[in-house]
Amino acid sequence: MERVLAGDIGAHEGREIRLLGWVHTRRDHGKLIFIDFRDRSGLCQAVTFSGEAEAFATMNTVRPEWVIEITGVVNKRPEKLVNKDIASGQWEVGVKTVRVINEAETLPIAVDTDGKEIGEEHRLKYRYLDLRRARLQKNLRNRHKVISLIRQYLTDKSFVEIETPIISKSTPEGARDYLVPSRLEKGSFYALPQSPQQYKQLLMVGGMERYFQIARCFRDEDTRGDRQPEFTQLDIEMSFTTPEEVMQLLEELYTKIVKDLYPHKKIMQTPFPRLSYKEAMEKYGSDKPDLRKDKNDPDELAFAFVVDFPMFEWKEREKRWDAVHHPFTQPKVESVADFDEKFATDPGEILAMQYDFVLNGYEIGGGSIRIHDPKLLSRVFEVMGNSKEEIQDKFGHILTAFQYGVPPHGGVAPGIDRLMMILENEPNIREVIAFPKTGDGRDIMMSAPSKVRPEQLRELGVKIDD
Ligand code: AMO
Repeated sequence: MERVLAGDIGAHEGREIRLLGWVHTRRDHGKLIFIDFRDRSGLCQAVTFSGEAEAFATMNTVRPEWVIEITGVVNKRPEKLVNKDIASGQWEVGVKTVRVINEAETLPIAVDTDGKEIGEEHRLKYRYLDLRRARLQKNLRNRHKVISLIRQYLTDKSFVEIETPIISKSTPEGARDYLVPSRLEKGSFYALPQSPQQYKQLLMVGGMERYFQIARCFRDEDTRGDRQPEFTQLDIEMSFTTPEEVMQLLEELYTKIVKDLYPHKKIMQTPFPRLSYKEAMEKYGSDKPDLRKDKNDPDELAFAFVVDFPMFEWKEREKRWDAVHHPFTQPKVESVADFDEKFATDPGEILAMQYDFVLNGYEIGGGSIRIHDPKLLSRVFEVMGNSKEEIQDKFGHILTAFQYGVPPHGGVAPGIDRLMMILENEPNIREVIAFPKTGDGRDIMMSAPSKVRPEQLRELGVKIDD
């Protein structure tokens, strides 16, 4: 007999079916035993009568979270017994046989609630169980739907998904790098990418023209509700583009995500408003303003773009000018000479071709048109305090690449985790990530980070200074 899913039993009314999954809950009514049966599709009710002696005896022993196989007949429930809370609530399965496939110890956390009553460390320690609860099932399944829609949408628009390296070289996004020691070149280190920024620009030099990637990024910074040490970006780069083209692409894509997958949500304003940084700061006191009318309504979505950011900000501690976005961003200048003149006059007044993507008070993406003149790019690195040698050492590859016919280009990288958090009305991004880290950057389920064997360190030429 072919397997039927709990959520689909209605299509098999009157027929005998086979179910494979978990005992969700069990209720003993003397001559009747009810179970809520669960599989990937959700729940259905199965009822066993004492008349089915063998099945009844087995059903008497099963406990929540045991893995079982049931065969039985799908019956329509009487009107007053319909369960409106579950999709299959008009039907139930009259059990004929039960087979216990695997027993389960009593679970350390409840999985038939939304989990909000359980301490988060406990949930994360047993994340594989936590994932069984309906809320997390929904979050991860919807995350997949959003990513599939994005992939299809961009593919239809001639974008190519390309993977870029994870063990690589440090690229400046303003956070601390995760470093990986090299075994073959002792004393040298790879860095995990804070974003694929340089690779995606080099793919434009490589003639790909329209790139995207569902890209994992790594930043060794303090974890917060909307921040994880590893997170996912929808990374995009386009040749021969303009800020308006990039913003329109996002607007179309995000409108489609909401219309197709979250039709009950309301987009406050289209076209998404474009605010200058100055306007946003003056009117709302934030560069990621929350433009919702009613901030308590979880179904309002107020998308906006913030443009005309300053190119540089003064870092008092380091006593130097730093890029607000990153040094690859095109400043609004005519030429290198124009840049030099403006920088000499007032560096803080130079604007950048940067656009931030904002939703309900969160920064859900950032991007810019890039500098494609290697001379201007060198100047920007210089005014940020890099010596000629440092520039050559850190960015020689990109400056060289830009000497061989680089197309003007630009792009953007919306964060997938923050988008999902907002769409799913979750309070933090850990709820939309399968295996997130704790506030202090640990994976308590796997016990990572952890000590390694002395011979592993010896092989890498690494000594621990205690
Ligand atoms: P940026 O550093 O602004 O730009 O990052 C883009 C978007 O990524 C998300 N994000 C994060 N999400 C979760 N946890 C984090 N620690 C985290 N850090 C960032 C945010 C943010 O808006 N390479 C450039 C993009 C470009 O210029 O094309 C970049 O990474 O939603």
